[in-house]
Amino acid sequence: MPFTPEQLRELQRLLPWNDGSRLPDGRVLGRGRKDWGVTPADWRIQLLIDHLQPAGKRILELGSCEGVHTVQLAARCGEVVGLEARVGNVVCALVRLWASGVRNASILLGDVRAMNDTIGRFDIICHIGLLYHLEHPLEHLAFLPRLAHTLFLDTHYADTTLRFRQAELTWNGRRYPAYVYPERKHRTDPFSGMAHRSHWFARDVLLSVLRDTGYRGMEILDDRRERNGPRVTLIARTEA
Ligand SMILES: C[S@@+](CC[C@H](N)C(=O)[O-])C[C@H]1O[C@@H](n2cnc3c(N)ncnc32)[C@H](O)[C@@H]1O
Repeated sequence: MPFTPEQLRELQRLLPWNDGSRLPDGRVLGRGRKDWGVTPADWRIQLLIDHLQPAGKRILELGSCEGVHTVQLAARCGEVVGLEARVGNVVCALVRLWASGVRNASILLGDVRAMNDTIGRFDIICHIGLLYHLEHPLEHLAFLPRLAHTLFLDTHYADTTLRFRQAELTWNGRRYPAYVYPERKHRTDPFSGMAHRSHWFARDVLLSVLRDTGYRGMEILDDRRERNGPRVTLIARTEA
């Protein structure tokens, strides 16, 4: 049964929405930066669908925020599990799934820094807007092949136009140049990382890191400049 206008208004009022999506009847739930009109999916989710044919597959979505992408993925795959560290985002995501009539998705409250094997095995990891929020991206990337062979990654990277302090990260005896991004609003902003800083790699270093952490096949789908810096969308596979 669709919500009455009063019920939808109440839902809008009750929760701390920062993101928006359309319900099956076309009305908007939530608010904020995303309202794609009648477009069924964010273009990166569409890229994932076009390149990875997710029908019947299990997807792990890291940093699932308020579940806008989760709903879109659920419509095209077997099952989605979202993992999100902020309680407010998890509550909004759960309500969005329910209000959108999604039955093949679940949301876990958790921090990717504490992930272990108990989360299970998946066909695809959907990783959008999260890597550049991590203080220890090497350890994180190195763990992911245990969860899925295929990584769909959308992330900012560093270049010389960004005035970030330089740093060096080490992993497995290797050293990687990196840049320090101050996560100034990590305590209050619903889209930020959980620590006070994160580390970004230059594009070529990011690709080396992926190779060194177990990914063999790499396919760059998009490379662009956004307000906060350059950003790439790619698929990485542990089997070439
Ligand atoms: C920039 S938003 C991207 C959200 C969504 N993937 C998208 O592209 O619209 C980053 C999300 O990752 C979550 N996040 C940040 N650090 C995290 C961590 N260590 N563990 C789990 N979630 C995290 C944030 O709370 C936020 O929801």
